Amino acid sequence: MRLVITMAAVDRFSLLYREISRSCSFYMEALAIVGAWYTVRKCVSLALDTYSVLRLHVIPKLSGEIDLVKKYGKWAVVTGSTDGIGKAYAEQLAKHGVNIILVSRNKEKLEAVSRSISETYKVETDFIVADFSKGRELYPAIKEALKDREIGILVNNVGIFYAHTDYFTNLSEDTLWDLIHVNIASATMMTHIVLPGMVKKKKGAIVNLSSGVCCQPTPMFTVYGASKSYLDYFSRSLHYEYASKGIFIQSLIPFVTSTNMVAFSSTVSKRSILFPTAEEYASHAVSTLGLSIRTTGYWKHAIQWTLGECLPEWMWAWFALYLSRILRKEALAAKAKSE
Ligand SMILES: NC(=O)c1ccc[n+]([C@@H]2O[C@H](COP(=O)([O-])OP(=O)(O)OC[C@H]3O[C@@H](n4cnc5c(N)ncnc54)[C@H](OP(=O)(O)O)[C@@H]3O)[C@@H](O)[C@H]2O)c1
Repeated sequence: MRLVITMAAVDRFSLLYREISRSCSFYMEALAIVGAWYTVRKCVSLALDTYSVLRLHVIPKLSGEIDLVKKYGKWAVVTGSTDGIGKAYAEQLAKHGVNIILVSRNKEKLEAVSRSISETYKVETDFIVADFSKGRELYPAIKEALKDREIGILVNNVGIFYAHTDYFTNLSEDTLWDLIHVNIASATMMTHIVLPGMVKKKKGAIVNLSSGVCCQPTPMFTVYGASKSYLDYFSRSLHYEYASKGIFIQSLIPFVTSTNMVAFSSTVSKRSILFPTAEEYASHAVSTLGLSIRTTGYWKHAIQWTLGECLPEWMWAWFALYLSRILRKEALAAKAKSE
């Protein structure tokens, strides 16, 4: 009797096992298909990303120099060009034989940089003294000064940050207006002045300096980041409006580069493996001109952008807030010590 019961149980178990494995094999096959589809998608996207990194950051460095004068025109205007990225970018363009018009506030610095570029690179240079924080009154004079020039490249580089990372309510009204005038209005109005001439010639390039902080919302960089997001959007939309007319518009998105802008922090202002000098950055960024309408301009910054995009927004914001508070404390302590 016990033997019969045991055999029946075993029979039922093997039946059950057969049934389960039959339905499981269907699920296993479905899972295998999903897995294969995911793997193929990841491989294709990895291959495309690798190709785009090579195309942007390696091939231009290996292949011969592009003739920027032939491609875009004889003259380039670079705003905020007496220091940092603007100056280094102007030098890189001059290295390609492009004549340079520098635009900044300080006449002595403009004269010195202008002379140094023309002597070093044997190109023509000129400059316009302009303080972009003055707003609307400034542009008729700039328009007049650029009237008879064949402008092939416009680099809207000028940009300001606060004294250090800070809370929105700690920023003065003056600082807010300066940010709007210098970071947003200057690029918009300079483009409005120069673009019609480019369209007439059916060639030209405009580079707008955005920032890595607009990868995701970045607290304590709020107004600065918002102004840079404006430039990113402005560039990308404008490119689609004017690409068919032969104009190339690039949103250039650097991460931290060691310049005066970040001098409020001894941590980020030193050149390091993550933070290039302006010269290092500009030499890479110029080689992406004409190749990508939205780029960090430098492969190390491209890695930072990719990692930044992978983070959930709350994690990016939490980390940014944590870091910004440290930088603020560091800047305030240094200020108190120097007083
Ligand atoms: N450095 C970074 O880590 C970083 C990161 C992301 C994006 N960016 C962007 O890259 C661009 C260049 O930054 P940077 O770090 O090279 O800046 P920077 O070293 O502070 O140089 C700023 C330049 O702009 C000029 N300038 C400042 N205020 C001006 C005004 N009101 N009117 C006219 N010219 C003015 C300065 O010359 P004068 O003082 O002689 O006028 C200087 O030539 C900015 O748009 C910035 O937002 C920088």
